[in-house]
Amino acid sequence: MAEIKLIINEKEHTVDVEPQMPLLWVIRDFANLTGTKFGCGMSQCGACTVHLDGKPIRSCTFPVVAVQKQKITTIEGIAMDNSHPVQKAWIEEQVPQCGYCQSGQIMSAIALLEKNQNPTDEDIDTAMAGNLCRCGTYGRVRKAIKKAAEAMRNNPAYQKSKASGDSGNK
Ligand code: FES
Ligand code: FES
Repeated sequence: MAEIKLIINEKEHTVDVEPQMPLLWVIRDFANLTGTKFGCGMSQCGACTVHLDGKPIRSCTFPVVAVQKQKITTIEGIAMDNSHPVQKAWIEEQVPQCGYCQSGQIMSAIALLEKNQNPTDEDIDTAMAGNLCRCGTYGRVRKAIKKAAEAMRNNPAYQKSKASGDSGNK
């Protein structure tokens, strides 16, 4: 066992766990943030996707010791009032069916849109390829990402998060 300090959704947590414990276990069972889901446990489905310093990772296979002092964001850290453009688009397009995969889908979508606010279908398919949906919501996911991208392009509050390499706004 080891004492490990984590920053999840801008809040510090100190946990006493096996260093190789998957981050997902800590998020759900120690930080009590259950929006992030367990699907396959093998980095194959994307249900457990969270952001590590803004990049999407599969928390089911990421040892907690590897994320000390880095910024972890879970679905609960996006906007509790559903005001993020991706959350709004998800609601407007009624994307979820059973909902199980959806927090992972949203985390991957946000990571994509933070670096590319005008994604092509190919960009979306590439970014979302690791997020499986047994209910087959892929068409609505793509539509919602395009809607959110437009909202983000038109909202100065989201311009600053754009990184180089964006093909958008031309
Ligand atoms: S539960 Fe992590 S990728 Fe499936
Ligand atoms: S909405 Fe059911 S698994 Fe994706």
